[in-house]
Amino acid sequence: MSVQAASPRDGSRLVYAARASKAFVAQPYEALERMREKAAERRDERDGPHVYAVTEASDERLHEFIATPWPCRDAKDFDQVWAATIEDLRARQLAVGRGAFGGWDDGDPQLVRLAWCLVAHLRPERILETGVARGLTTRAMLEGLERNGSGHLWSIDLPPLLEQGLARETAAAVPKRLYDRWTLTRGSSRSVLPGLVAELGQIQLFVHDSMHTTRNVRFELERVWPALAPGGVALIDDVEKNSAITEFLIAHPGTSSMVCASDDGEVLIGCLVKPGRA
Ligand SMILES: C[S@@+](CC[C@H](N)C(=O)[O-])C[C@H]1O[C@@H](n2cnc3c(N)ncnc32)[C@H](O)[C@@H]1O
Repeated sequence: MSVQAASPRDGSRLVYAARASKAFVAQPYEALERMREKAAERRDERDGPHVYAVTEASDERLHEFIATPWPCRDAKDFDQVWAATIEDLRARQLAVGRGAFGGWDDGDPQLVRLAWCLVAHLRPERILETGVARGLTTRAMLEGLERNGSGHLWSIDLPPLLEQGLARETAAAVPKRLYDRWTLTRGSSRSVLPGLVAELGQIQLFVHDSMHTTRNVRFELERVWPALAPGGVALIDDVEKNSAITEFLIAHPGTSSMVCASDDGEVLIGCLVKPGRA
């Protein structure tokens, strides 16, 4: 019998296997769910590219959808909120940008700006969000609610199961002074969202930025849509990674929609507006 010394690659495989088994023991439902989502992600990659036409003058179009004057008077205040958010994260020695949270992207300025504008114009009493990470969209929406003087945000986030240290960075961008208007539930949207939607009744704004698979985005949208008020909006990041929006629009004719590019042009952001007047 010959015995070979373990290579560094074997070593990292062993570390991965040990972490995966620990995650399974600690959170069996979420670990299984993550495996299903990984398989769904591979299917989406195989079935792509998922092509979406980018709407001309999309920011203006969105304001038209929600019957708000253009140019937007509230957009300029966003620059200060964004600058303060980035400064706070850098002060904690956290790098910001694509892939910076264990491979997950921090919110892009265009996504976060749209979320800010929607809070300013819709003046929502109830917002639901999936996918927090360090909380760039979360911070901007909470700042917006504070500025409105009314409203609450419910967020759902499943932190990475293997890189457990990252859970400590969850919501690093959200200062404690904003906590009164915020409820964070940890877990996958599949396990948490249905109960939360039933509890909340009606919501006016939904932001998806969790797992970007057709399986998960369709699941979230189909649960949230009946609870969305007429004139309410669903904002969805990374739509080009799956065919959820195409499928959703076929199943829900009459929905106004637009797709725009992120600030860096790397991904596409979708907006769906529920028919009817707010
Ligand atoms: C793209 S990041 C969110 C970025 C954030 N919106 C921002 O503006 O910085 C995605 C987050 O969703 C979490 N996540 C992944 N799968 C999830 C799921 N099924 N349900 C809820 N959260 C999930 C990830 O761990 C990560 O924290």
